[in-house]
Amino acid sequence: MKAIVVQEFVANPSTLVPISISSPIPNVNQYLISITHCSPQHADILHAQGKHQNNDSKKGWCFPPFILGYDFAGVIQTVPSDGSSHDLRKGDRVFGAAIGAFAEYICVTASSIRKIPEGLSNETACAMSGQAVSYAAVVNIAKVGKEDTVLVSGASGGLGSVCCMVAKALGAKVIALAGDEQKAEYMRRDMGVDRVVVQKGDWIEQIVTFTDGRGVDVVLDNTGMVNDAIRCLAYFGRIVILGFAARKGVMEEVKTNKLLLKSATLVGYRFGESGRRYPDEMQRIWDGYLGMLQDGRLKPILFGRYQGLQSVGRALGDLAGRKVYGKIVVGVTDIEDVAKL
Ligand SMILES: NC(=O)c1ccc[n+]([C@@H]2O[C@H](COP(=O)([O-])OP(=O)(O)OC[C@H]3O[C@@H](n4cnc5c(N)ncnc54)[C@H](OP(=O)(O)O)[C@@H]3O)[C@@H](O)[C@H]2O)c1
Repeated sequence: MKAIVVQEFVANPSTLVPISISSPIPNVNQYLISITHCSPQHADILHAQGKHQNNDSKKGWCFPPFILGYDFAGVIQTVPSDGSSHDLRKGDRVFGAAIGAFAEYICVTASSIRKIPEGLSNETACAMSGQAVSYAAVVNIAKVGKEDTVLVSGASGGLGSVCCMVAKALGAKVIALAGDEQKAEYMRRDMGVDRVVVQKGDWIEQIVTFTDGRGVDVVLDNTGMVNDAIRCLAYFGRIVILGFAARKGVMEEVKTNKLLLKSATLVGYRFGESGRRYPDEMQRIWDGYLGMLQDGRLKPILFGRYQGLQSVGRALGDLAGRKVYGKIVVGVTDIEDVAKL
């Protein structure tokens, strides 16, 4: 099969090209999936560069050589031979997340995939497969309610755009941060948030003014701006750290006295690990997230479509260059061709 293999960490992931390797053979508890779509995200850039906490030589995760990619959608080709598959069958359309998604095939256990709900295309499911984390951060961690004003950093990105939509669906007032005026225009047009602020100049003052000097109740931080978040925060406010998209692998030092002065709560959230530890809770999160997708409260923002694994490098370059708004999806194999396999 063709796959994007990281043979050694690369400074510039846009240089990656697909190569031919042996197709994977599933273990007795694994499904073999033929991938129809994959969706590059920020973590893939860090994985390829060796700057992510998953680049772990001891666990063997994302340590060269490995197949890059995380979010995918596809069709089940074979089910586990140990008889453990009850709900999923050959031919079912599924989406999920597992290292190795930039390939024509992937082998995964049941915990990495879900059936694509009726009415959702493989492309849409793929675009939304990585953002249940945003739903969980808003609903379960920040516990956003209609009385809250919520600030979202990296709001034009995959996680950030869904943070905004979920918080709006819960009735909160939402302020979205944009990197430039062009993205801000798109966001004002599509996202239904209360305010879009371009993160330049006096942007913190604009946020404080918008809240009549009070500050925001919640910050969902996707870019790594905790010190700035504290400055935007109301007394007893809460900050959820989701990611570090702007930090290029270098972490921020936080002024803890500023947290005390505002009686602030600062909490991190690692979605994958919480799913491994609390699978029942994870099921409730997925039910809630997919429910919002199906009833239309969440609308995928599909900014760009790319065709073929050879375009993954370009897609990663666009992401790293901050040219992307919402999500991008790469078509890998036509669903009609997969159905014939
Ligand atoms: N907590 C978890 O379990 C979890 C799960 C998945 C991902 N993550 C992390 O969450 C973060 C966001 O992921 P994502 O998939 O939403 O990323 P994404 O789609 O690339 O969006 C990130 C956004 O951050 C903004 N940004 C600001 N400075 C940037 C820079 N120097 N380079 C790139 N983007 C920059 C960009 O918006 P503007 O250009 O408009 O500023 C961009 O839209 C990443 O750090 C990722 O690793 C965490």
